[in-house]
Amino acid sequence: MPPSPPDAPLDLRPESPEFRRDPYPMLARLRAEDPVHWSPRLKGWVLTRYDDVRAALLDARLSSDRLRPFFAALAGEEAARIAHLARYLSLWMVFRDPPDHTRLRRLAGRVFSLAAMSAMRPAVEALVERLLDRLDGRREIDFVADFAGPLPALVVMAMLGVPEEELARVKRLSDELALFIGSARTEGGKYARAERAAAEMADFFAALIAERRRAPGADLLSALVRLEHEGDRLGEDELLATCILLLFAGHETTTNLLANGLAALLRFPGEMAKLRAQPALAPRAVEELLRYDGPSIAQVRVVAVAHELRGRRLAAGERVFLMLNAANRDPEVYDEPDRLRLERGGPAHLAFGFGPHLCLGFPLARLEAQVAIPAVLRRWREIALAVPEEAIEWHDSLVFRGMTRLPLAVAPA
Ligand code: HEM
Repeated sequence: MPPSPPDAPLDLRPESPEFRRDPYPMLARLRAEDPVHWSPRLKGWVLTRYDDVRAALLDARLSSDRLRPFFAALAGEEAARIAHLARYLSLWMVFRDPPDHTRLRRLAGRVFSLAAMSAMRPAVEALVERLLDRLDGRREIDFVADFAGPLPALVVMAMLGVPEEELARVKRLSDELALFIGSARTEGGKYARAERAAAEMADFFAALIAERRRAPGADLLSALVRLEHEGDRLGEDELLATCILLLFAGHETTTNLLANGLAALLRFPGEMAKLRAQPALAPRAVEELLRYDGPSIAQVRVVAVAHELRGRRLAAGERVFLMLNAANRDPEVYDEPDRLRLERGGPAHLAFGFGPHLCLGFPLARLEAQVAIPAVLRRWREIALAVPEEAIEWHDSLVFRGMTRLPLAVAPA
């Protein structure tokens, strides 16, 4: 985006192609000029400073329960049109506050545990090599469709015990669900497609769950079905909702981490060379890639208790957009924040959120990127964009930051 003259009014247009391609100049202006900004377009507050975003993620006056009021406000016929979305998404822990959130997270966390995620390392390594083997001999690839898309989906499917041949269906249904979750607009029948996807995903998991009840396996789906903790268990709809959430949350974001991460390394060839030379740098490199251009640009809250922030009055019921990617480039916190520096260290980024809703799957996402990115660099001696950077299309989403395609020219090692 060309820099705006200093006195141009702050006009945040998240749907514009300029913002989608490079939101950072606008986020920098918001952070510097109006860190608690009222956006008429978003009809909500936009927070961009690291301290404010981090504090907001911990603030019980801001609620995550933003879908139920939305669903409740719909008139009968409208509500009927998105009945499945309402039924299942209302039960996602990410959209709930304590005590419901605490309970859902504790139960799911018993099964989707750190140990279960760490145990995936050999499977992730094998999947990475298998996907790369399939690209042997190719000189041009679409990194999203050929690698970054399938890998995280296959990993979370393997954990849950969803058969691999369902990959195309899982991807399609997730993309359709994202039309509701990531987008602020309703045109073009997007909600109708998301509604059909929610219904189909629920039927799909209901059938798998029935199978696991008959013949339990070693997968997490069987464990979720069996799960009982201190006399509590997930109800039937909660079980379906949690499966849909894990499948959905488990891959769209990780796909974007891999693709945004590789694109960032291409923009900073010196850093890429460093990582090639020192693969042991991968854990730190992945944290820096998450900070530099994380997959979740914003998280949304609703004001539950009115309060003031930097002289602005946040009224009950108003929406607040916590711009994680703006916080992660706050110059008060990070030196030269617009530069990728794999050895940076420093305060933890907020790409996985913070506080009670801190991403449940972050150890898995980290693991996948730590394995996949060095493997990609090992496999290809040369990697370059196959189209000009301006030609790359970014998703039209307020929540997810990622590319629809990342065409690359590659040459084997
Ligand atoms: C790079 C990849 C990922 C990123 C950037 C990411 C980001 C996030 C963020 C920012 C939140 C907080 C939402 C909020 O504060 O309202 C979150 C929550 C969540 N994530 Fe992730 N995520 C990633 C991968 C995963 C994976 C692999 C899984 C599981 C397989 C997962 C499952 C979840 C779940 C279940 C929650 C809800 C937690 C709660 O509400 O307590 N995520 N994620």
